[in-house]
Amino acid sequence: MILPVSSDCYQRALELLQQGRLVAFPTETVYGLGADASQPDAVRGIFAAKQRPADHPLIVHLPNVEQLTEWGRQLSAAAYELAKHFWPGPLTLIVPKAPHVLNIVTGNQNTVGLRVPQHPVAHQLLHQFGKGIAAPSANRFGHVSPTQAQHVQQELGNSVDLIIDGGACPVGIESTIVDVSGKHISVLRPGMITVKQIEDVLGEKITVLTSTTTRAPGMLASHYAPQTALRLIASEQLLETIKTYLAQQQRIAVLAWHDALIKDPCLQWIAMSTEPQHYAHDLYACLRKADQSDSAVILVEQVPQNENWRGISDRLQKAAHREHL
Ligand code: TXA
Ligand code: MG
Repeated sequence: MILPVSSDCYQRALELLQQGRLVAFPTETVYGLGADASQPDAVRGIFAAKQRPADHPLIVHLPNVEQLTEWGRQLSAAAYELAKHFWPGPLTLIVPKAPHVLNIVTGNQNTVGLRVPQHPVAHQLLHQFGKGIAAPSANRFGHVSPTQAQHVQQELGNSVDLIIDGGACPVGIESTIVDVSGKHISVLRPGMITVKQIEDVLGEKITVLTSTTTRAPGMLASHYAPQTALRLIASEQLLETIKTYLAQQQRIAVLAWHDALIKDPCLQWIAMSTEPQHYAHDLYACLRKADQSDSAVILVEQVPQNENWRGISDRLQKAAHREHL
């Protein structure tokens, strides 16, 4: 059931969470599929609803920065600094887990992913619940993350007891994940908080793991993929590539940086922003739209390869990877 934001919706959400049921809620990044992180059966329900393998760890969402010390231990100076600077916000920290953190949440690892979200609905829910809520993105395993309540409904339907409709998620792609569990700090998943912003706070260079280096469990290269094949195309080749498909009378969808260069009944043109914040905000909704257009392929015009676009570029590369599967 989808409910708009109201005092009733929080009341219902709290009852359900306490009963070990699932509640989908908006965060500033994407919608999360939440369960009480201290109830093993409730957490198992998340894996069942998403059809997610059990060794893919979940992020625990916390109501406030102070709870970092409750859920993590042996916290480094970097963990404190990043939490202080970026929480509440779209940053997940991987830290050594406190003994009470369930193995089902961490996929049997000795670390846990923690985040204090900024979105007012997520914040209110966590504040009223008072405890950690385990929540992955509220999509089926491997699909595009949901940024609107209707996306959650389409993805998970009746396997989620309540979806709180807080409108479109402002950031639009998943949080930046930083591993601060050991001596060596690394970014496991780039996002809209940039590597440079993190380096500036820490005063040191950090490693970014890409698909060519080893990824954390759950970070498969084929994540975030639409069902339709997706190809990344350099700007100079876009028009020529479109014409080739149209000459073969194939239906295509195009995500480009500008208005349509060409019109054709077989072509769905989606104009994207040239500004990374707006692009990220729209990306997943546009990929869903393209995916539903009955096209043989989604062509995406390459985005710039620079710091501000790194998170977006990462998701596009993962989505395109399905082409090679
Ligand atoms: O923005 C977000 O992070 C959203 C919202 C709902 O908060 N959540 C999200 O969760 O994207 P999920 O489960 O779709 O992605 C979490 C990623 C997974 O790739 C998982 O492998 C990684 O975080 N992760 C979680 N705990 C980890 C750990 N202890 N060590 C390494 N990676 C971990
Ligand atoms: Mg996900």
